[in-house]
Amino acid sequence: MTEPRIGAPISRVDGIGKVTGEAKYAADHGVPGLAHGHVVSSQIARGKILRIDVTAALALPGVLRVFTHENALRLVSPPRGESEEVAPGGSAFWPLRSARVLYSGQPLALVVAETPEQARHAASLVQVEYMRHEHTTDLRGNLKSARKPRGGSAPSSRGRAERAWRGAAVPVEAEFWMPVEHHNPMELFSATVVPDEDGRLTVYDKTQGVQNVQRYLCRAFKYSKGRLRVLSPFVGGAFGSGLRPQYHVFLAVLEARALKRPVRVALTRQQMFTFGHRPALWQRVALGASADGRLEAIIHEAVGETSRFEDFTEHVVDSSGLLYRCDNVRLAYKLAKLDLYTPMDMRAPGAASGVYALECAMDELAFQLGMDPLELRTRNHAERDQAENKPFGSKELRACYEQGAERFGWRRRDSRPGSMREGHTLIGWGMATGVWEAMQEPASAKAVLTADGNLTVSAATADIGTGTYTVMTQVAADTLGLPLKDVTFTLGDSSLPDAPVEGGSFTVSSVGSAVKAACERLRGKLVRRARGSRGSLSGDQLLEVMRRSRLATMEAQASVEPTGKRERYSHYSHSTIFAEVQVDDDFGTVRVTRVVSAVAGGRIINPKTARSQILGGVVWGIGMALEEESLLDERLGRFMNHNLADYHVPVNADVQDLDVIFVEERDDIVNPLGAKGLGEIGLVGTAAAIANAVFHATGRRVRDLPITPDRLLATPPAIPIV
Ligand code: MOS
Repeated sequence: MTEPRIGAPISRVDGIGKVTGEAKYAADHGVPGLAHGHVVSSQIARGKILRIDVTAALALPGVLRVFTHENALRLVSPPRGESEEVAPGGSAFWPLRSARVLYSGQPLALVVAETPEQARHAASLVQVEYMRHEHTTDLRGNLKSARKPRGGSAPSSRGRAERAWRGAAVPVEAEFWMPVEHHNPMELFSATVVPDEDGRLTVYDKTQGVQNVQRYLCRAFKYSKGRLRVLSPFVGGAFGSGLRPQYHVFLAVLEARALKRPVRVALTRQQMFTFGHRPALWQRVALGASADGRLEAIIHEAVGETSRFEDFTEHVVDSSGLLYRCDNVRLAYKLAKLDLYTPMDMRAPGAASGVYALECAMDELAFQLGMDPLELRTRNHAERDQAENKPFGSKELRACYEQGAERFGWRRRDSRPGSMREGHTLIGWGMATGVWEAMQEPASAKAVLTADGNLTVSAATADIGTGTYTVMTQVAADTLGLPLKDVTFTLGDSSLPDAPVEGGSFTVSSVGSAVKAACERLRGKLVRRARGSRGSLSGDQLLEVMRRSRLATMEAQASVEPTGKRERYSHYSHSTIFAEVQVDDDFGTVRVTRVVSAVAGGRIINPKTARSQILGGVVWGIGMALEEESLLDERLGRFMNHNLADYHVPVNADVQDLDVIFVEERDDIVNPLGAKGLGEIGLVGTAAAIANAVFHATGRRVRDLPITPDRLLATPPAIPIV
């Protein structure tokens, strides 16, 4: 019997290293002579530095140097224009480049000392004198200034949506507000930079893309790639915050070069709120349907925020042109510029926000039609991608609807809001659809087999907690027929074969395909040596070929790109989420007591790590629906709840019965593995299912997230609830 590999629920291969502390994160690398940098952050949102007084800081024992814009420009002169592969259109912000202040929390100085405590204390003594300019950080007050973004493709409309909406038998229309959210990974951003005698740099960084950080630093500091290596073997969560190189790594390199000694820069939890966030968003959705519930018009408009210097765009409204069959669709997306740092991708960027609005509006439409919300979805199921005018490579969304509803017991739902009550507790059931594009990026991998049977496969990808180490090990072991214990996968090193940043749920499809191709190429080389042998050889037989040919090692490398055939189809993962909530009638507190998430994500490489991905997404959906919100004080232009006491994320008590179903979905077009990726789909639609359950429980439709008790109690029921 062969050992199961692909499809086996094996535990994380990096799990023991993580729980024993053997796994080293960016700030864990101890180096003799290490100096420490602490960042001084701007306290105003817009203006100019008139003077920075560093005398008191420099006078403290242990303080080595203070970097400001006044002395940093002599050390580095970063180029204008695009800075790295994830940069949005516009002109990137470089730390310490000038006296201009563009947002609150901007790094203005770096204090370097022998210990972190000395650096932090000294940083508190740096006096900055500002010239303040008027700022604005409020999206609500700046909606009218919104413009079409520079760069990026505009969402495509079709038919005559406004006319169809006005003529529809049943029209609904609603506006939604989403707050700013911050990623808040457990691991703080930090970098440890170690120069050698020849001036080469080793950079341990927290990032989702070692090669992106390498390119960024090489451009800024004019290094060749051979002289600057970036390592990030372990990442304590990132969720998009590590897609772009962050300012801490720039400052750490600046400092290490100037002092010619190893240095570390670590941000504080408060500073984790200073380099990008999920943007605040205004949305309007208008749906029109015939009396029997056929969609005749979909209108979805959104305005997001961005910084003064870059246009951060996400696909907020695009899913609304894709998810349901409808001939008349109008989509619009604009940006308003504020005095904040550029927003950035945060788990399921665009879709998490846009599908929330669409799926709540669908629930409102079902209510107006007097139709079951699930029935409304299946009646408008899209068999074809009308936005791109292409067939889907695979789409098992109907199976998600059926299996999820069955597991949840949806058939027993009484559609009347407020119909399920136990004393002071109102119970509600809601559902929503989720969708996320199954992307594939060019990627490479290398496989090296030794005669004693050890296989090492590598690529410059990341494992941000997603399970990359584990699933790549499975793909390699499966392809060559070797035991899992004899296979090692290495990542998080810029010198390994080229790979994209880990993001967008495309790591398995991109890097996994390259791992498979490299292993197949290695097998092909050995098969050709074994003259006379036909077809596939087992792992043992491959090793026998190596021994007979007196080969100590055999290696192969492969690069994989999306195929032409793939491009003729549309590729998406889909999901259906069913949620149960209990709402306290007096206090307006909401508990999510049960969630079933049914996912069609192609082939599942590892059901255990896959389930973890979806659980994480669902928990995030609970936070998005009920808790997460970064609050700005407009007078200061600053996020005020910049700590984990005031920025609420779900804790164990908020997370109850979560159930994940993977429906079977076969797909040999999407990529050679048939796996679509699971990082984002668990979140998309979850907040809508919860919000719809709250409506079903209470008759109250809260359209502004998060649904906090005060907002719920302030919203009158749409219908009388007894
Ligand atoms: Mo994810 S937001 O693509 O890291």
